[in-house]
Amino acid sequence: MLAVIVLAAGGGTRMKSSLPKVLHPVCGKPMLSHVLDTAGKLNPDKLIVVLGHEIDVVQKTLCDGDFDIAEQVEQLGTAHAVMQAQKKLEGFEGDIVILYGDTPLIKSSTIENLINKRQEEMSAAVIATTELECPTGYGRIIRDASGKIKTIIEEKDADENEKLVKEINTGIYCFDSKYLFENLSNVSCNNSQKEYYLTDVVSFLVSQGKKTSILKIECDEATGINSRQDLAFVNNTYRNTINNRLMTEGVTIEDPENTYIDSDVKIYPDSVISPGTTIKGKTTIKSSCHIGPNSYIESCEIDEGSNIISSYLTEAKIGKNAVIGPFSHLRPGTIIGEDAKVGAFSEVKKTTVGKNSKVPHLSYIGDSEIGDDVNIGAGTITCNYDGKNKYKTIIEDGAFIGSDTMLVAPIKVGKGAYTGAGSALTEDVPNDSLAIERSKQKTIKDWAKKKRGS
Ligand code: UD1
Ligand code: CA
Repeated sequence: MLAVIVLAAGGGTRMKSSLPKVLHPVCGKPMLSHVLDTAGKLNPDKLIVVLGHEIDVVQKTLCDGDFDIAEQVEQLGTAHAVMQAQKKLEGFEGDIVILYGDTPLIKSSTIENLINKRQEEMSAAVIATTELECPTGYGRIIRDASGKIKTIIEEKDADENEKLVKEINTGIYCFDSKYLFENLSNVSCNNSQKEYYLTDVVSFLVSQGKKTSILKIECDEATGINSRQDLAFVNNTYRNTINNRLMTEGVTIEDPENTYIDSDVKIYPDSVISPGTTIKGKTTIKSSCHIGPNSYIESCEIDEGSNIISSYLTEAKIGKNAVIGPFSHLRPGTIIGEDAKVGAFSEVKKTTVGKNSKVPHLSYIGDSEIGDDVNIGAGTITCNYDGKNKYKTIIEDGAFIGSDTMLVAPIKVGKGAYTGAGSALTEDVPNDSLAIERSKQKTIKDWAKKKRGS
């Protein structure tokens, strides 16, 4: 049997944030969710998160998931936090893995190694450690002459010699439940921080002659987030992992250092991502698309062969072989059809653009239904808002909208109809008609010449 306990009750004062620390995003997802996802991959029989600081906000954000929450009202230390989880583990026997909600780079394969080591060596506990050039702030691993672990000393309780030790406690362990529970209640807060240290359990086990083992892990995986600097480091590291995975899966990323892709984004092979591109949320990009340079895409579905150049898209759906940009803004509820085009300085909102239709330059199209093979001339505006309500514009198949047409909604332009350039239209245009609304041109011969007096 396997139980995983994730400690996440602490405050995170050094973040200087109104957002609870464990909710700060790493590649688009709260750091705690990363830890829970990783733990979930191990298929534990029990997954318990210990929450305290801002428990309501954290709980609300996590919403669904296959885990129990244990509340730690006062944060009295890591052992005290585990005791709160123990209440939910009555009768449990097996492996107990301890993780931290602020250490999201830990890999499920590393945790598996930890569990396997405990089972193979029949240890009471396996402690994950790592070597750090600058171990300041961490608990130090103190070994005896034979190299076996003796104890873990917190920075604040360490003497000068102990402080020189570079091997640190990552805070990630696998315990035999029996020995963990037996010793937890004996932990006291008789130390410089007046906290109940989980690390004391390790010292107890050693003094009882129980086998305790060490697994050395990669130092990046053990990085805990305590400050905004740590957050940036972890984001960077995780971003590299995502980019590497995508490249392995057949996506070209021209400049991985300057490409920001969230963890839940899906990109199919043979798509190319150019520099300066950010892809967020639950975006899916099918194969052979070209995204960027400098595009921002959030929660979009982009079909095969599309090209999104220097554009800003949120919650939009793009059909096959469509071309968006440069400099287009597609807002939520936009659906662009196959082979369609939205071009420079066009903004489209809550609108369907049909197959092979074009909004190539300088337009605002909102709350509209645009059919197939429609051409929207430069500078066309759907006047969809009267300050109170929004109204719909319908432009049917094959219509041709002259440049600088103002379509005052609600309005419908019928199949194959034309509108004259510069018209402000307030009435529906029947199929195959031309609607034109502008005064006749007046030309005054030699006017300019006379003005110049020559
Ligand atoms: C702890 C370890 C230290 C190790 C370090 C690794 C102890 C006594 N020390 O120190 O040896 O090197 O982690 O990062 O265990 N938490 C709670 N409730 C509490 C206290 C903490 O849930 O009452 C949670 C925090 O939210 C955090 C984790 O436990 O996710 C670690 O707590 P933190 O206070 O950062 O421990 P450290 O002092 O850094
Ligand atoms: Ca810490």
